[in-house]
Amino acid sequence: MQALVLVGGEGTRLRPLTLTQPKPALTLVDRPFIRFMLDWLARHGVDDVIMACGFRAELLRERLGEGGGDRPRVRYLEEPEPLGTAGPIRFAADQLDDRFLALNGDILTDLDLTALIRQHEERGALGTLALYPVPDVAGYGVVRHREDGEITEFVEKPDLGDVDTNEINAGAYVLERSVIDRIPPDRAVSIEREIFPRLVGHGLYGLRLEGYWMDIGTPERYLQASWDILERRVDTDLGSQLDRGGPLIGDGARVDSEAMLRAPAFVASGAEIEAGTQVGPRAVIGRESVVAAEAAITGSVLLAGCRVGRGAQVTGAIVGAGAEIGAGAEIAPGTVIGEGARIAATARLEAGARIDPAGAIG
Ligand code: GTP
Repeated sequence: MQALVLVGGEGTRLRPLTLTQPKPALTLVDRPFIRFMLDWLARHGVDDVIMACGFRAELLRERLGEGGGDRPRVRYLEEPEPLGTAGPIRFAADQLDDRFLALNGDILTDLDLTALIRQHEERGALGTLALYPVPDVAGYGVVRHREDGEITEFVEKPDLGDVDTNEINAGAYVLERSVIDRIPPDRAVSIEREIFPRLVGHGLYGLRLEGYWMDIGTPERYLQASWDILERRVDTDLGSQLDRGGPLIGDGARVDSEAMLRAPAFVASGAEIEAGTQVGPRAVIGRESVVAAEAAITGSVLLAGCRVGRGAQVTGAIVGAGAEIGAGAEIAPGTVIGEGARIAATARLEAGARIDPAGAIG
């Protein structure tokens, strides 16, 4: 089975992290985020992946490679300009099979794609959308359908009074090749707004799938996705290595016996945790990162090669690769620090602060 994965967005909501890394290449716990998607696709029989890239295709290719072996083969298509969520399908037309999957590239999920493909085949559908129930549909595209799954209506960003279903478009579709002819060429086209509404009544179906689904596109959700992997709310091969929820410590990581590590926590290989520190609950310490004595890292992710000074406190934050946090600094919840930024000793960052890559504070 073939899959086209949309990875061309700018990821503005995850800035400043996405100023230096494309969103799919950002490390989530222990690997570039998109690897979780590739593993999920492979579990459902996908062996050929086309990454529909916008800017920074090269960075993604460097981090992910071409796949192969027991992993899906991965190809990269670079759009000359952003083509939205349907335009990339048209742009990739020569490389697409008669039936393929199209997916938003920022979802962490274990939904049953095999069931989606099966229903698509049984109904002889033109397109079949994964639908996912959420407690709050605000900000999502809601879908109405008949009992057999045939879609009757799309409601983008619904008014709350208007909603009688909690099933959203989960950004994972099975499509027949003939859908491509309905996508205008050479311009940005939204599949949700322009293409799907026109296919209603012509063989467009949905299937409600239960399981885990999260769009990792905001700092809050990126953090939540990290904890969900460590707490095994989503089915991943990393989660299955976790020993009954204890902290996971990579090869060659040095954790002082006087450090307090509280699960869920992940310490990547080559990281160093000094005495008297508190790491977790809910912490990811990236490769080669150093947490100096008496520092506390809770509810936070440090990407690779960060340095946290003595006695610093990092709470509910994401710290970009190679950033340095001076001794005694306090980083408040919701802070996102760009790659290579430096925070001076004893600085206090307010909740929700965004620090530019290689920016300096204090
Ligand atoms: P924000 O800027 O934070 O909204 O993130 P985003 O740019 O990723 O946008 P959004 O989350 O709405 O995009 C949903 C999915 O479509 C993501 O996987 C994006 O990478 C992808 N995407 C959005 N626009 C384009 C585009 O023009 N081309 C391609 N190839 N993918 C796109």
